[in-house]
Amino acid sequence: MNPLNHVAIIMDGNGRWGLKNKNSRNAGHKAGLKTIEKIIKVSLDNKIRHLTLYAFSTENWKRPIKEINYLFNLLEKFLYNKIDNLNRNKIKLKVIGFKKFSVKLNQLLLKSEKLTRNNKSLQINLALNYGSKLELINAFKILKKKNKAFTENNLKKFLLTKEIPDPELLIRTGNTKRLSNFMLWQIAYTEIFFEKKLWPDFNEKDFLQIINSYKKIKRNFGSVS
Ligand code: IPE
Ligand code: IPE
Ligand code: MG
Repeated sequence: MNPLNHVAIIMDGNGRWGLKNKNSRNAGHKAGLKTIEKIIKVSLDNKIRHLTLYAFSTENWKRPIKEINYLFNLLEKFLYNKIDNLNRNKIKLKVIGFKKFSVKLNQLLLKSEKLTRNNKSLQINLALNYGSKLELINAFKILKKKNKAFTENNLKKFLLTKEIPDPELLIRTGNTKRLSNFMLWQIAYTEIFFEKKLWPDFNEKDFLQIINSYKKIKRNFGSVS
């Protein structure tokens, strides 16, 4: 059975779910929060060490400002209401992304990271204003400035994921088979599952089924056996 330390998820399909069920994209974002809670629970039960959630991409700024504001308000409320509970469950929260939010949200994110920084059960990496191309360009620029060689080990030190192992498993919900600028470097050898269900419909059972399928995969990493 393959070990599983890090699951990364592209949580896609909220907008379509919201339009279909409540005639509002934003209602889908709200419904998606419940799925996040379910997935956190399964991750804790299965002793997964890292759960990375793609919540907002560097390209998502192209969306209508009303939707963007709704999303960030939702995140603010979620953190405000749930951070103590996450902390009680020994969950560590880490934001990976290019922080550029309102003063209030920035403070809340920093406070949440600080509060949970010594927790050792599950680390939730919240990919917020995250983009893989920007992350890589940023890392290369730092290497150049520091006059360091462009090696794999050196580069890794300047990625936003510097202290996070590469994910063994990537899931994208929402019936779309693309990566949308997510962790392009880190998923070089990741097993990828594209799930038809929209994120708010994705549940514990679906997650467990994917975990079980992943565990049985023969992973070669280029060699033969
Ligand atoms: C993913 O759901 C959540 C974010 C990008 C914030 P979408 O909002 O992309 O939902 P669809 O893909 O339009 O249905
Ligand atoms: C990817 O979903 C980003 C997140 C889930 C945060 P998008 O809905 O933004 O991706 P595209 O635009 O369909 O590629
Ligand atoms: Mg989408």
